[in-house]
Amino acid sequence: MSESTPSPVYVYEIPVRVWHSLNALLIVALITTGYLIAEPLASVTGEASEHFLMGYIRFGHFAAGYLIAIALVFRAYWAYAGNEHARQIFLPPLLNAHFWQGVWHEILWYTFLVKEPRRYIGHNPLAILSMHFVFVWGLLFMIITGFALYGEGAGANSWAHVLFSSWVLPLFGDSQSLHSWHHLVMWIIVCFVLIHIYVAVREDKLSGQSLLSTIVTGWRTFKSDKPVDDAH
Ligand code: HEM
Ligand code: HEM
Repeated sequence: MSESTPSPVYVYEIPVRVWHSLNALLIVALITTGYLIAEPLASVTGEASEHFLMGYIRFGHFAAGYLIAIALVFRAYWAYAGNEHARQIFLPPLLNAHFWQGVWHEILWYTFLVKEPRRYIGHNPLAILSMHFVFVWGLLFMIITGFALYGEGAGANSWAHVLFSSWVLPLFGDSQSLHSWHHLVMWIIVCFVLIHIYVAVREDKLSGQSLLSTIVTGWRTFKSDKPVDDAH
């Protein structure tokens, strides 16, 4: 533990930062187009082939779906190839008591029940835990259920049907339940994205370290000489 203001640390490498921005854009595109698939706009008059409105909305959703899946595979590879901070949201130390104690401290800090924030070089323990479940497992759930729905439209001999629909559809019972679960988890992601942005802005001001600039430049800076904690 250091007694002087810790020097800036290079935390998030370029692949992590590029993935963050791309992933955020794709999730917003998927939420917008997904919502419109579930709640279509008022019908437009004339031949469907002349305007193809829902066709373009669905195409946008599927194209973003392919891209977000490829991006997640690359990000998972970078969790293996990148630095220790690139691994944090993929491999949280769930069996470590100090980690859970840190999660509890962050809950108290976010609910204004303790006065002093802890400082971390990477993510704080609560961020690791919540991002692991919502942005890694939640996103994987959307990709698996999304490609299972896609396989239904693409046909029984398509790769998406063979790889996904064939086992995911029986698991959920029928197409309607699969649609409903794909839809429900979207709202969990929407709620968490709002919390994520609130917390990122709030912590940038209230905590003892930089956040917004860190996810853009990769460098973490510290505001005081308080010692730095370790999430693990
Ligand atoms: C749909 C939108 C978004 C999603 C899905 C998302 C997702 C994520 C994920 C997965 C991480 C962890 C990065 C990693 O370790 O690989 C992260 C970190 C971060 N995000 Fe976002 N993000 C979104 C939007 C935003 C926005 C708009 C902001 C800025 C206001 C933001 C600020 C941050 C910050 C500051 C961190 C790093 C936190 C730290 O230093 O511990 N995010 N985000
Ligand atoms: C964050 C990620 C995603 C979100 C928020 C999202 C959201 C949605 C929503 C809300 C619906 C409408 C469900 C309903 O009520 O019927 C939908 C449908 C669908 N999504 Fe996604 N989705 C995501 C990822 C994906 C991915 C990765 C794919 C893969 C290609 C995909 C493929 C589909 C398909 C095929 C449909 C059904 C289209 C139809 O019935 O016309 N989605 N999505």
